[in-house]
Amino acid sequence: MTDFLIAPSILSANFARLGDEVDAVLKAGADVVHFDVMDNHFVPNLTIGPMVCKALREHGVTAPIDVHLMVQPVERMIDEFAAAGASIISFHPEAATHVDRCLQQIRDHGCQAGLVFNPATPLHYLDYVMDKVDVILLMSVNPGFGGQKFIPATLDKLREARQRIDARGLPIRLEIDGGVKTENIAEIAAAGADMFVAGSAIFNQPDYAQVISAMRAELAT
Ligand code: DX5
Ligand code: ZN
Repeated sequence: MTDFLIAPSILSANFARLGDEVDAVLKAGADVVHFDVMDNHFVPNLTIGPMVCKALREHGVTAPIDVHLMVQPVERMIDEFAAAGASIISFHPEAATHVDRCLQQIRDHGCQAGLVFNPATPLHYLDYVMDKVDVILLMSVNPGFGGQKFIPATLDKLREARQRIDARGLPIRLEIDGGVKTENIAEIAAAGADMFVAGSAIFNQPDYAQVISAMRAELAT
């Protein structure tokens, strides 16, 4: 059986009490903390940076922190987030001049490296770098905001990414980000995803544990 990872996006958490929110969602059964970094340049929103990642580590968070960089350029932020305690660092290939170098830079820091694909971005960026990728992250909304609707064409893209991973036999995680809910998580898993980011679906409900266990129940069917 696949081991599925649930990664709540703290974009939808209450930033005024972020440490408590992260503690609560991990206690509720989350596997990974998804950390959205937006620069008001690559995407039209502005969020949190390496200081906040470091603060969560100092607060006592030991779970993996999955940093989703929506910034341009990416190079400097890779170094900063690695130093701040990131576990996975993912970036959008359109935002990087040297995709291969950035993947290597992440791994040289001892972090796992991810490539993120916007809804309209083709998977061919993977063609020559699969052996340097630990996570393929498919965006199922246009990045920048939580609470958007899942774009159905992503299901075919997931199947294509799953085929690429299985054809190479590499231990690459296939992560999905945007519009994931209890109602559609089973269909998304059937298309090949094994790591699920969910922001509003979890943080907009009062009982995080109830949502996460409902998601796990869907994944077990
Ligand atoms: C969007 C972010 C997502 C977002 C997901 O740019 O990358 O991680 O927080 O939020 P939901 O789950 O609400 O679509
Ligand atoms: Zn994200």
